[in-house]
Amino acid sequence: MKLPCVLLVLALACVSSTFGDGLKCTLKPADIPTTWLDMVDPCIKIMESQVKIEVEAAMTYLAMGAHFARDTINRPGFSKFFFESASEEREHALKIIEYLLMRGQLTSDVSKLLKFPLKPIREEWNSGNEALINALNLESQVTHNIRDIIVKCENPQTYAFNDYHLVDYLTSDFLDEQYKGQRDLAGKISTLGKMMQTHGHLGEFLFDKKLLNGEI
Ligand SMILES: [Fe+2]
Repeated sequence: MKLPCVLLVLALACVSSTFGDGLKCTLKPADIPTTWLDMVDPCIKIMESQVKIEVEAAMTYLAMGAHFARDTINRPGFSKFFFESASEEREHALKIIEYLLMRGQLTSDVSKLLKFPLKPIREEWNSGNEALINALNLESQVTHNIRDIIVKCENPQTYAFNDYHLVDYLTSDFLDEQYKGQRDLAGKISTLGKMMQTHGHLGEFLFDKKLLNGEI
């Protein structure tokens, strides 16, 4: 019984390979003028690397969410908060990819976007407070990176091209969200710190309940 099965698999593989080659698109790419492509190289490269930074932030928040969901930790409020943060970071990566596509980039090769291995910056946290402080530091670093792109693309050294649209997009959309997110984390660290001062470890337990119910 085993031999006919092996022969069938081999035959299917041959057919699939033959048809696979036959299905390749043989049409020449359309002749689209390139005059509308005005993004300069340093800005394209730094935006591509920002995708990786956003994905790494998403992975870090995923690790935080999973850590606080473990049965031995069991802080569902923290877990929910960090899983939501992971989705936001993924959304940021997507927004940058969509921006590059709108400007006519990423038309032939997307392999530069995600160079593996990508990994979270940490996988263990001793307390909710430590994770929130980590998150705030991570967001400050991302804000710094966005500001770097703005500075670089406002006045690229090798090109006389101020990318007004990109700079405006990052300043209004991304920086706005960064500063609001940082303020939110700073407030949470403050509240949790006060609750732990007055209630000890019970403070973290109570904070987690409020986080779960969206009260903090
Ligand atoms: Fe982000």
